[in-house]
Amino acid sequence: MISRIWGWPNEMRQRILVILGSTRQGRAGAAVSRWLMDQLQRRDQVDFELVDLRDVPLPFFNHPLPPASGQFAPEVKSWAETVGAADGYVIVTPEYNHGYPAVLKNALDHVYREWNRKPVAFVSYGAAGGGYRAAEQLRSVAVELQMVPIREQLAIPFVWTASPSPVRSASREPIKQSSVWSTSSLVRSPQTGAV
Ligand SMILES: Cc1cc2nc3c(=O)[nH]c(=O)nc-3n(C[C@H](O)[C@H](O)[C@H](O)COP(=O)(O)O)c2cc1C
Repeated sequence: MISRIWGWPNEMRQRILVILGSTRQGRAGAAVSRWLMDQLQRRDQVDFELVDLRDVPLPFFNHPLPPASGQFAPEVKSWAETVGAADGYVIVTPEYNHGYPAVLKNALDHVYREWNRKPVAFVSYGAAGGGYRAAEQLRSVAVELQMVPIREQLAIPFVWTASPSPVRSASREPIKQSSVWSTSSLVRSPQTGAV
């Protein structure tokens, strides 16, 4: 499942990848990410693209070289390009046993430089804790990947009861504002790549 919300063409537009980290049969993640994409309406300078990890068939990471080398197996190149083409990320994660799904960690581990120096926001869901523990773990992984995790976060408790709209409207504005703030304030320099 790949869907896009594109606005008017402009070289300066920021491109945010929304990564759905759940691939389980019957997952709630599909509804959460659909709802999120609906909230991330067209903005003047930002395009949001949803990538479903079901559509990214990666092997379990087993490459002889670290991804920081920039050397990828043929089946990983497309994922590396997708990650590299984005200016920032929103990771949508469920909580599994107080962590996040293995398929998501695998997708994160497969590339390295492509994540560097880019902001990342989290939308988590689960039972009572709303997936907070999964998101907290992702924050430390994001730092190691040289991403810039932003503070504001959406957490959806008891996700199976949250229908049709997973969260109340008051709590969704911060993530929209923050992803726009973080992506526009962390624009990479064309010469150095520095933030
Ligand atoms: C293997 C497994 C472990 C889970 N562990 C937790 C947990 O530790 N904390 C929690 O809040 N919810 C937990 N849940 C509930 C899930 O967060 C909830 O079922 C959610 O819908 C899973 O996301 P998904 O439907 O997109 O796969 C667990 C669910 C599964 C399948």
